Amino acid sequence: MGDFLTISGMKRADLVRLLQATRRNLPVADGTEPSRTSLQGRVIANLFFEDSTRTRCSFETAVHRLGGQVFNLTPSGSSMSKGESLVDTARNIECMGVTAIVVRCSVSGGARMVADGVKCPVINAGDGRHEHPTQALLDVSTLMEEFGSVEGRTVSIIGDITNSRVARSVTHALSLLGASVRLVGPPTLVSKAFEQIAEGPGAVRVMTNLDEALDGSDAVMMLRVQFERAAGGAIASDYRNMFGLTPERIARLAPHAVVLHPGPMNRGIEIDDRVADDPMRSRILRQVTHGVAARMAVLEEVVGTLEPVGR
Ligand code: NCD
Repeated sequence: MGDFLTISGMKRADLVRLLQATRRNLPVADGTEPSRTSLQGRVIANLFFEDSTRTRCSFETAVHRLGGQVFNLTPSGSSMSKGESLVDTARNIECMGVTAIVVRCSVSGGARMVADGVKCPVINAGDGRHEHPTQALLDVSTLMEEFGSVEGRTVSIIGDITNSRVARSVTHALSLLGASVRLVGPPTLVSKAFEQIAEGPGAVRVMTNLDEALDGSDAVMMLRVQFERAAGGAIASDYRNMFGLTPERIARLAPHAVVLHPGPMNRGIEIDDRVADDPMRSRILRQVTHGVAARMAVLEEVVGTLEPVGR
């Protein structure tokens, strides 16, 4: 049993195995096939110290689909509001006999701190600006469903890169699998230093002109401006004109190109209604189903019930 904390540092073979498992899980994730029993008799703790809709509910659904039980702890109803630390909270929860802890927090590196403080497996559900590894799995899985493979594809990630754990994790994953990544935003929200984070064959390029980046992109991943991480001060009033995905812009994309967004969307800022709801281009709701399947794969991986490929 191990932790699942980052995509950075992962071996390609491990990433591929989780993506294959995610793909296999899809019919169970969407309820087409019956639930499994690999988590039967086990309790998973969801410790969510930052707000979440998709990630928290999909971890819950994933546990249910694997026959386990899950409970949620959020700061407002817990002793975190009385000053108890993240690690102390996790240690106490572990003593209730949980099999694994899923943690989301605002501290970059917070998931590692929890993992160092407890013995049970810990899954990172997003730690500050650092990583969001299960989001990367679901993003890549959605793209693989579309294109078969991401190798040789070009993916543009647009917006508040600096504050985005999503951008960091998915860039690592895409680069490892041989896709080229364009990180696009105003210089205040994406620095040249991001070009160094490639750990695989796929190149990472920082760009500040959206229209240039869209030319030749197979997929476009839009990001929310993270106002809660003070990004509001880093954007100008013409942000939508410069970096918003409008119907005019997607009309110029290659016919096969698709649009992703991790959610929550700020419609009218980074993405227009007609793009978000475009049935030909948008895979935004499909990503959510892949999210359940990806979290099932990771839960089975950390508790040691993920079957080797080919069995
Ligand atoms: C993202 C997150 O929380 O990092 N959302 C998500 O998990 N689906 C992105 C965001 O909040 O903008």
